[in-house]
Amino acid sequence: MTFRRKDLVGLEGLERGELESLLDRAEALWPVATRAAPIDDASANAARRLSVVNLFLEPSTRTRCSFELAEARLGVERLTIGGEPLSLAKGETLHDTVRVLEAIRVNTVILRHPEEGAPAAVAHALPSVHVVNAGDGVHEHPTQGLVDLFVLRRRWGSLDGRRVVIVGDIEHSRVARSNAFGLAALGAKAVLCGPRGLLPDDPPGGAELTDDLEAALDGADAVMALRIQRERFAADESLPDAEAYRRRFGLTAERAERLRPDVPILHPGPVNRGVEMDGEVMDGPRSVVFAQVAAAVAVRMALLLALAESPLPDD
Ligand code: CP
Repeated sequence: MTFRRKDLVGLEGLERGELESLLDRAEALWPVATRAAPIDDASANAARRLSVVNLFLEPSTRTRCSFELAEARLGVERLTIGGEPLSLAKGETLHDTVRVLEAIRVNTVILRHPEEGAPAAVAHALPSVHVVNAGDGVHEHPTQGLVDLFVLRRRWGSLDGRRVVIVGDIEHSRVARSNAFGLAALGAKAVLCGPRGLLPDDPPGGAELTDDLEAALDGADAVMALRIQRERFAADESLPDAEAYRRRFGLTAERAERLRPDVPILHPGPVNRGVEMDGEVMDGPRSVVFAQVAAAVAVRMALLLALAESPLPDD
């Protein structure tokens, strides 16, 4: 099975074979992504079909830079907007903004947006434009999920039967949701851990929920920490105290020492050192935080090529 879809708005509902085809492709593209080899002619020709705008309406370092570099290493026509004022600020709708881009023959939009569902709405409204969700509110961040699956599969060969503990502000985490769906599709179990008030009522992907980090870490095959997403708290929600949070839910050096030596520690970033993860854990031997960033270009190249091979109605 291959990934043949117009858009990627989430990992929810993707088949195991679709995920595996993207991860296999990212593996094959690794030499090109890391600039060890030039791109082959067939991939370069496929990539030329795309004209991409990276439309980032929230801050980003990792996702934006790795999409831009993935596009550059594929030789794709591309433009990044969002940091500077756009006509959205003058009242133009997101739909009309993307129609403007479509009118100048852009056929692929990588969209980061503060509202859940914005990428899906654009994808639905515009049948001739590929849309990739680069993170929408608290809904999903599917390409980060793919990056994390890629790093774990590279390490283990297969995710079947593995137990991945994700600890942090689960309620507001689009990364936790995408990982839970992706891990389930690949035969692994997500254990979502955090303060009771920051756990969802309805666990994504059949994940386990717990507020007992010490118990969750027993038998963990991998651990991912998440930051507290201050910007997504409602006015009537109270933020956890950082030091109290670290004591109960932080990946401290002491907790990391109690893990098996082969257990990788992940974080999608950005990291608040000394809150959800101690600095020495982030820089320590179990950390794969920078391996996640390194994998992001290959994974996003694989997705872009898969989209390039998925015809649009106007093709
Ligand atoms: N993981 C992630 O989405 O990081 P950025 O916000 O820096 O893109």
